[in-house]
Amino acid sequence: MPKLKLITFGCQANELDSERIVGLLAREGYELIERDEEADLIILNTCAIREKAEQKAYSRLGTFQELKRRKKGLRIGLCGCVAQQEGQALLARFPYLDFVVGPAQLTSLPRLLRDETNRGLATARTPTFSYPVSAPVYRRSAVKAWVSIMEGCDRFCTFCVVPFTRGRERSRPLQEIVEEIRGLKQRGYREVTLLGQTVNSYGKKLRPPASFVELLETIDRVVEGEMRVRFTSPYPGDVTQELAEAMASLPSLCEHMHLPVQSGSDRTLRRMKRGYSRDDYLKKVELLRTKTPALALTTDIIVGFPGETERDFEETLSLIQEVGYDGAFIFKYSTRPHTPAAGLSDQVTEEIKGRRLEQALGLLNSLSLARNRAYLGRTVEVLVDHEDVKRDAVRVAGRTRENKIVHFSGEGPTDGDLVLVAITGASALHLQGELICANGAKSSGKKDLTTLRPLSMIS
Ligand code: 5AD
Repeated sequence: MPKLKLITFGCQANELDSERIVGLLAREGYELIERDEEADLIILNTCAIREKAEQKAYSRLGTFQELKRRKKGLRIGLCGCVAQQEGQALLARFPYLDFVVGPAQLTSLPRLLRDETNRGLATARTPTFSYPVSAPVYRRSAVKAWVSIMEGCDRFCTFCVVPFTRGRERSRPLQEIVEEIRGLKQRGYREVTLLGQTVNSYGKKLRPPASFVELLETIDRVVEGEMRVRFTSPYPGDVTQELAEAMASLPSLCEHMHLPVQSGSDRTLRRMKRGYSRDDYLKKVELLRTKTPALALTTDIIVGFPGETERDFEETLSLIQEVGYDGAFIFKYSTRPHTPAAGLSDQVTEEIKGRRLEQALGLLNSLSLARNRAYLGRTVEVLVDHEDVKRDAVRVAGRTRENKIVHFSGEGPTDGDLVLVAITGASALHLQGELICANGAKSSGKKDLTTLRPLSMIS
């Protein structure tokens, strides 16, 4: 059996693509392995969102040059967004690279591998695969699954490579998604995350058109409380009243939204072409929180976008403060090929970007800590997804419906169990607690668990 080593960089869409790669290659007889030295085929599934991610892929690729020289027959391939962005240039730059495959051409992998004479290239001018995607998915987890519902993006924010690497927006037929989720439920999956670059723009281009909320309602009926449902990432401009109502009323839908804001300054938002103002964004947050008070909110923020002044940055800080996020990914702006912002003359220095990043992270941490401290003394439902045995102590971890990571100790629960945990400790990134009891197969849904007390407190 030929052996495959697969290295994944980047977002959840890439994680899912990697599961597709393994699925496709399993059909060709490949077995997934961990150790580089044993591999007959090494694939790097890359990310191009920031320069650092791209550099990471190149430096990892570089470490295989020596192995390639030593091991006859070893083949090395580069997939993902860097493959799409750089194409042919990669084959010229890295002579030991055998093939390059863009995200929309994954299904051509088996064909490229069978042809041993050529160095292969499969990247489309505009990546436009359409659904159904025929690649089988090999899922790493037996508890949580990613399901792609739409691909690509039509927004063309001025900093972002996604429309170039993943192509234009296209949605998967509703029935096909629902059938996939029905199958996951039958196989005992406990959570599904719907994926798309602007996930809530789903369905606009389908004929007949479907809506994101209609999809969520249909999925909710299918999972019957036996699976948690999440989605990522929504575009703020497409957060509607109906979506806010669905978040509040559909029992399967978890109380968490990752809602990328990017900046708190109207001037910067305009220059980014985000299509909403600070006030528009804050109104969406208010709408969501009014309907779902327990909602946890996380976001993405870019600091040091070209032309960002100290005042613009302060507006970002004040927005972080005003929203009081549960968490955020904060990035230094990174110049990306093909994007309009790369050509702007007023680039911000690395030093200023670094300082702004530190400052924003400091503020964020204090707010996340405060949000997490509010859980102290409460009882939460945790979906167990990680068990660690260290020096005889069993440490278990899982996530609350609000997507908070909870660590607790105790034997018994295994991956996929729903348990109730009393929260006894909080940091900016995690919660800690004591196991109360298993919660059975069905999720508590939107029920309030705050009245429950740990067993030790009852006695
Ligand atoms: N520089 C820095 N961060 C970026 N992101 C996207 N493009 C860039 C860039 N050029 C961030 C955004 C996005 C997240 C996935 O990555 O915050 O929401």
